[in-house]
Amino acid sequence: MRRLLVTSALPYANGHIHLGHLVEYLQTDIWVRFQKMQGHRCLYFCADDTHGTAITQRAQREGRAETEVIAEMQAAHERDFAGFGIAFDRYGSTHGEATREVCHEIWSGLRKTDLIVEKDVAQLFDPQAGTFLADRFVRGTCPKCRATDQPGDNCSVCGSTYTPADLIDPVSTLSGTRPEVRTASHLFVQIEKERPFLLEWTQSGVMPEESANYLRNFFLQEPLRDWDISRPAPYFGFEIPDSPGNFWYVWYDAPIGYLGTTLEWCREHGEDFDAWWRNDETEVHHFIGKDIQYFHTLFWPVMLKKSGFNLPRFVHIHGFLNVNGEKMSKSKGTFIQASKYLEHLDPAYLRYYYATKLSSRVEDLDLNVEEFIARVNSDLVGKVVNLASRTARFVEATGLSAVYPDDGGLFAHAASQGDALAVCYEAGDYGKAMRLIMELADRANPYVEANAPWELRKDESLAQRLQDVCTVALNLYRQLALYLAPVLPGLAEATGRLLNAPMDSWQAAATPLTGTPVGKFQHLMQRVDPKKVQAMMDESMEEAAAEAQPAPSPIPVDSGSWLVAEPLAGEITIDDFAKVDLRVARVLAADEVPEARKLVRLTLGLGGDTRRQVFAGIKAAYDTQQLVGRLVVVVANLAPRQMKFGLSEGMVIAAGPGGKHIFLLSPDAGAEPGQRIH
Ligand code: MSP
Ligand code: ZN
Repeated sequence: MRRLLVTSALPYANGHIHLGHLVEYLQTDIWVRFQKMQGHRCLYFCADDTHGTAITQRAQREGRAETEVIAEMQAAHERDFAGFGIAFDRYGSTHGEATREVCHEIWSGLRKTDLIVEKDVAQLFDPQAGTFLADRFVRGTCPKCRATDQPGDNCSVCGSTYTPADLIDPVSTLSGTRPEVRTASHLFVQIEKERPFLLEWTQSGVMPEESANYLRNFFLQEPLRDWDISRPAPYFGFEIPDSPGNFWYVWYDAPIGYLGTTLEWCREHGEDFDAWWRNDETEVHHFIGKDIQYFHTLFWPVMLKKSGFNLPRFVHIHGFLNVNGEKMSKSKGTFIQASKYLEHLDPAYLRYYYATKLSSRVEDLDLNVEEFIARVNSDLVGKVVNLASRTARFVEATGLSAVYPDDGGLFAHAASQGDALAVCYEAGDYGKAMRLIMELADRANPYVEANAPWELRKDESLAQRLQDVCTVALNLYRQLALYLAPVLPGLAEATGRLLNAPMDSWQAAATPLTGTPVGKFQHLMQRVDPKKVQAMMDESMEEAAAEAQPAPSPIPVDSGSWLVAEPLAGEITIDDFAKVDLRVARVLAADEVPEARKLVRLTLGLGGDTRRQVFAGIKAAYDTQQLVGRLVVVVANLAPRQMKFGLSEGMVIAAGPGGKHIFLLSPDAGAEPGQRIH
């Protein structure tokens, strides 16, 4: 019996679980269920990853405490996971006390080494928001190609990378103001000093080969950069005990959540923590996506080693999910949340479909919606469940035959495949396992076709034969359901109820059931309804679009001071108003009048060749270049007036007291020059 401790990466508490995440959690859950069926001692832990700036921003936006945000997300995550049948032995939180405890313990281990150094870091600071800015909260002009509005770490136009401090005209996305450079002292782990250990460990068969090869090349190229693991206050996280005012960076405490959650579980179950994490007999298995392998294969092993914890026995690394051949897209409705899926579809479909697509290689996988529907319907409904649904009813009254009939070696053959299938599951080659299982189904179905129990039942004298044929079919079905049990726990459970036999051990597939009662047949699985798949995608698209709408800003409260400054004028009639011919006009040219302090000469187009020259006192308020091309409103029938600099043939309409505070009126988009304003 092996002792296995298995983890999935801790999902961030700042977003909901989507079908991309599920590639990981379903794959881990399948592995864990498989190991449990093998009779191994296997624990599966995960937790919410709660710390860092993203949570704080969200909490501020929503006007709530961070702890409130993370509690709500945690509940949502746990609901989603449960809905997909993902069965953690415990689901914790990095904000929990147990994680804090282990953070302290690992820290004191690291402090005893010569790996921790303190260095000054210049970082952009938003004085208005009162916080240092993570890279993604700064935008500005690319220092290389001068493209404007680029993110803080790399330019989307020319691709160059830089630090936020290199940006020209940086702007904080939190307050819209210009951040300043401030220096603060940070703590670093010098992992370069652990190069020999890391080089050896990463090449010792503890991760997929392509990842190990990648790291080997990476080691050859350059020294490993010091890892910055502290952030100055304010920061939502744990304060560093011997460095007041500094907090551990979220990626320091995130993986420690694996241990914190184990610790909580141990306390609850009266088990010894060290027996799980400081014990050669325990195998630690991490499941992660390729985007976070640095943290798990470079920093994490150093942290574990320096504090005497087990190193992972294997880091299982997977690729990313595409949908219909492209990155998940909100506008195409392929960015699908777990909860949205569950509103429409059976989780078993996705569990099976992902299983058919997974291998032990670090490859991206594609959820092709057409293929998803076809696979599930033809394999699960057409080949597997069919075996039971076409036979179980005929033996409801009699149960299975007392002696297992001659089936031409079908059962024995499927039993002999158990080991090969186990090898596939163990290696994460679920796709291959599913193919082998469907091959077994392809052998079983012709048996049922050939023996046509629906014909046998018409003839009383063939009752024994009918019972035998159904006994074979249901046993072959049960083998498949057992082999599929890690993937389809719900189907296994229903099968256990139908056949009154436990489904929790792999070994059970080696011995046929005989003489046992058969329960009342109930539907085991429905076909995938393409209309429901479409509805799921349509709703995902609509909800994403609604979310993208900016939140309505509160209606401001306006003072009455302008009315006091200039009381309302006396009443006029509609005919009075009609005398004023207001027109939409386009500014064709705008020139400063050098001799006049306030004036700008505007050439206004009213459509076609009709133009007006107008002198407007807006020099202090507008840059002439910005005016050209825009629409304004002009009094088109005002008597022309000869001025010192030329003829003024109208007046542009503006609000404001004057000087810099002049606000030109412009029509909403769609209006065209020459249109009259009524
Ligand atoms: N909080 C970190 C992990 C800390 S582990 C100590 C994190 N969270 S995450 O929510 O962004 O991702 C959680 C896991 O889901 C990661 O392993 C990530 O690779 C995986 N996936 C997230 N989106 C994914 C896809 N679109 N496709 C496949 N896996 C994806 O990273
Ligand atoms: Zn650029």
